[in-house]
Amino acid sequence: GSPGRAGAAPRVPVVIGHRGVPVQAPENTLASIDRAARLGVRWVENDVQRTKDGALIVMHDTTLSRTTDVARRFPGRGPWKVSDFTLAEIEKLDAGSWYDRRFKGERVPTLARYLDRVEHNRQKLLLEVKAPELYPGIEQQIVTELRNHGWLDRPHVSDRLVVQSFNATSLRTLHRLRPDVTTGYLGNPKESELRSYAAFADQINPNHTGVTAAWVRAVHALKGPHGRRLQVSAWTVDDGDRAVVLARMGVDGIISNAPHVVADALDGD
Ligand code: G3P
Ligand code: CA
Repeated sequence: GSPGRAGAAPRVPVVIGHRGVPVQAPENTLASIDRAARLGVRWVENDVQRTKDGALIVMHDTTLSRTTDVARRFPGRGPWKVSDFTLAEIEKLDAGSWYDRRFKGERVPTLARYLDRVEHNRQKLLLEVKAPELYPGIEQQIVTELRNHGWLDRPHVSDRLVVQSFNATSLRTLHRLRPDVTTGYLGNPKESELRSYAAFADQINPNHTGVTAAWVRAVHALKGPHGRRLQVSAWTVDDGDRAVVLARMGVDGIISNAPHVVADALDGD
């Protein structure tokens, strides 16, 4: 890590595997978090949505077609929305072959199985509530699932879990349901608007292209709902040089499709 300015503590950002390690394994699968574990990546990010029959699954797009073989298996059912398929149907899908034949048979994970695997791997989780406007009540369901799997027990709740969303209403709901969970608002609010997010978000997680040192300072000047300095995790950064620039701006985390590459770059800085 870099020594930082005289008097300032060195700060090496935490590196978070975006949907796992999608440059080496299909996104949002167990194979992808296992790959992260093998590469020494401690934090993984995922996206959580809900099936037609109410199961929580890990999937980025609101349709199943890009990352599974749904169009081939269910040709008449386009546009293949997540919310139009039951868990039993989704569990039949191949979520690996589209990426590489070596991953044939990989499944879309339930949140339950995903949580258990992250725990088994001794990893930490940045859980995104994806498109919650499509899934009324999903915040309570996520809380229940987390609780049932031991993720809300102390000290783990503050050690290894952050819940984030682009949807501020959803994040506020989650914070109200479980004030002990660390939360992140996804977006690039103007400096003048940051304060309103600090009531329910511990992190502001921006698209890295809009980030400046002044903006990071403005975020750091505020305290979140737990009385701690607000943090910043920027996405999605796959270039080592850019990661080093962001680290020098003071970001606390970097979300990356190539987390091992970014970690090496930060190590060498
Ligand atoms: O973790 C941040 C990032 O995942 C947000 O964008 O579309 O990849 O979910 P997206
Ligand atoms: Ca995401």
